[in-house]
Order: sequence, then structure tokens, then C-alpha cells
Amino acid sequence: MSKEINVAIVGTKFMGRAHSNAYIDVPHFFDLPARPVMRAACGRNVADLKGFAQRFGWQTTEMSWERLVERDDVDLVDICTSNVTHMPIAVAAAKAGKHVLCEKPIAMSAKEARQMRDAAREAGVRHMVAFNYRRVPAIILAKQLIDEGKLGTIRHFNAVYYQDWLVDPTFPMVWRHDVKEGGSGAHGDMNAHTVDLARYLVGEVEAVSGAKEIFVKERPLSDGSGTGPVTADDALYFIARFRNGALGSFTATRFATGRKNYLRLEIFGSEGSLIFNLERLNELEFFSLADEEKAQGFRTIVVTEGSHPFISAWWPPGHIIGWEHTFIHEVHDLLLAIDKGESVHPDFHDGLRCQQVLDAALESAIEGGWVEVPAE
Ligand SMILES: NC(=O)c1ccc[n+]([C@@H]2O[C@H](COP(=O)([O-])OP(=O)(O)OC[C@H]3O[C@@H](n4cnc5c(N)ncnc54)[C@H](O)[C@@H]3O)[C@@H](O)[C@H]2O)c1
Repeated sequence: MSKEINVAIVGTKFMGRAHSNAYIDVPHFFDLPARPVMRAACGRNVADLKGFAQRFGWQTTEMSWERLVERDDVDLVDICTSNVTHMPIAVAAAKAGKHVLCEKPIAMSAKEARQMRDAAREAGVRHMVAFNYRRVPAIILAKQLIDEGKLGTIRHFNAVYYQDWLVDPTFPMVWRHDVKEGGSGAHGDMNAHTVDLARYLVGEVEAVSGAKEIFVKERPLSDGSGTGPVTADDALYFIARFRNGALGSFTATRFATGRKNYLRLEIFGSEGSLIFNLERLNELEFFSLADEEKAQGFRTIVVTEGSHPFISAWWPPGHIIGWEHTFIHEVHDLLLAIDKGESVHPDFHDGLRCQQVLDAALESAIEGGWVEVPAE
């Protein structure tokens, strides 16, 4: 492996760590034509940044993303920052001729997402949104079964995404509570994932109707100087009509007491059904009417066979993989696409289409009634 792809990352915390781990691990397990070189890391806090770079092996540091995206020794910019920064960093990086990986939700609004998609297309660079759940082997298997017609006509796509980290009213304010930094709350954070999976597995959404709530309206400021207003939704639910006639429901809440990161999909078709639960991500439940009637029932497929997507790079059957592997698979596919000069999905167009659904659901939750999702 003689070729190199020089990577720069912006953001040093949760996603910064997950993506760094992926660049470290990917060449150890996959045969790639080009090796990722962890060239530069960028953050806002100098002590955090130095510690992060040292721990994960980023060769150099920058305090300014504006300088970072202009560097000649950078090929790929990986954006792991709060949502308000995605558009300016991605557009500047694309204009500087860099490939871009951007965390989800792609942007604060569909308007921003369109700017990102257009800038990336004009620059002719590779672009990807980090919807990492598309790289869970069980989700890819679900897509294969659907594409093979095993579910027949899909009638329902029901998604719940439950977390409970905000149940405590003394949990302090972070950027995720502020619409000016996040665009929305649980909605853009969690429904973004399930809307992307809905588009991947079922198809485009035509119209939505939603409701939202902020249950704790003031939270302590993290510097101890009092409290501040929460402006981003704690929960947003919506129902949807797909263009192919299926019905959908999407539930995102950070107030599901006892649930930690419970993302569950239920897909019902004319010939069969699928159930996926992220907290048991090595498994896929499958029901098929094609089975002999007396033996029908949901069966649990343990998605750890060498024939299952990505698994041959890992362990023998039954030796399960984890959440961090989804990021390794994601950067694997991106690095391959960069090397081959091919597109990779979900790209910024997918990010835009997802954001259009999110914007419509938010508008409906504020204004009431059904809101149509643009066709293009
Ligand atoms: N794919 C997933 O499963 C997943 C999970 C969590 C978060 N996310 C997404 O990842 C992104 C980051 O979330 P997080 O949980 O890592 O947040 P975080 O708060 O843990 O980290 C954000 C980082 O961005 C840095 N940052 C913010 N503005 C900056 C700027 N102008 N210049 C340089 N650095 C800046 C902060 O200093 C911090 O290091 C968000 O878009 C979030 O929605 C995705």
C-alpha cells in the first residue's frame, strides 16, 4: 500500500474520537489501496487539542479550521463539530479542493445543505455524510433482503430513537440545547439517523406531520453563572407518507427514562417483516410468509457470518462487532471512493434530501398540519 490520503479532522470530542479510532483501525483490518495518514487535528481549546492529537497520533495541530482547509498537505477534511459549523467548513474545504466527510445532520437547514452539495459537486471532490448506521452489517443485510423482494411491498416503516440523558433537570446546558448551534435538538440529532435509514431502506418521503416539546425549559449554565433557556426540542415525533405509498412514524426523544441509545426499526411488507435494534446490532429479526406456515415466526439472524457485509475482515462467526465498527466501515468506503475517484453514499445530496424531511417535520411541529417534502 504505497499511496496515502492525508486526513485532517475538526473537532476533538465524541465524534473526533470515534473517527480517529476508525482511521487508526481501518488499515489494520482492511486491504486498502491507499493508507490514511492522520496529518492534522483542529480544535478550539489548545490543551484539549494537544492531548487529543497525542493520544490518537495526529501529526500536527491547528487552532483555525480556515487555515486547516487551505493546507497543501491535506486531502480529506473530516468535520466532527457542532452543526452550525458544518456548512462553512465543508464549503471552504470543497472550494479548496479537499474531499469532505461531514457529521450528521449535514447542516442547520436544507438551504445550507444545498450550498454544501453544490460546492462539493462544483469542486469535483468526494463528499459523504457520516450516517454511520448505514454501515451496520445487519442494516446492509436488511437492504439486501428488501432489494431481493423478500418483504414484498413495504407498508410500514416505524422508527423509535430513545435516549434518557436529559431526564435529569440539573443536566447543564450544552450546544445541543441551543437552536443557534444545533438547528434543532433530538430531531436533528436522532431523527436524522432514522430518516436517512428510511430513505436507504424504503424510499423518499412525500409529506410529514409532527409535534415537539421542550420538557425542561431552563437548565444550569455549565460555568455555574445561573440558568439559560433551552431552545432546542427535547422530543420530536412525526408521521410520514412515503412516495411509494408506505406509511412511517418517527419518534425521537431524550426523555425515554431508562433507554440509553435505543434505536429500533420495524418494517412490515406484504411478504415479510424486519426488526432491528441498535442495542443488539449484530442481530436482525426476519419474518417471512414464504416459510412453511406451521414453522412461521420471527427468526433472529446473527449477522456475523463471513458472507455478511464487512464481517470477513473481522472475527469468526459469532464473535460480535460493536458500535465503533460502523465508523471504521464508513471511512473504509470513503477512502476506497477517494482512491477510485468514485462517488460514495450517503453523500451530500443524501444529506440534503434527509434535511428536507427534517425541515418539513420541524415546520409541521411548529405550524401544525401536514407539510410536503420537496420532490427535488
Ligand atoms: N454519527 C453519530 O452517531 C453521531 C453521534 C454523536 C454526534 N454526532 C454529530 O457529530 C457532531 C459533533 O458532535 P459531538 O458529539 O462530537 O460534539 P462534542 O460537543 O463532543 O464535540 C464538538 C467538538 O467540536 C469542536 N468545535 C466546535 N466548534 C469549533 C470550531 N469553530 N473550530 C474548531 N473546533 C470546533 C469542539 O471544540 C469539540 O471538540 C455533531 O454534528 C453531532 O450531531 C454524530
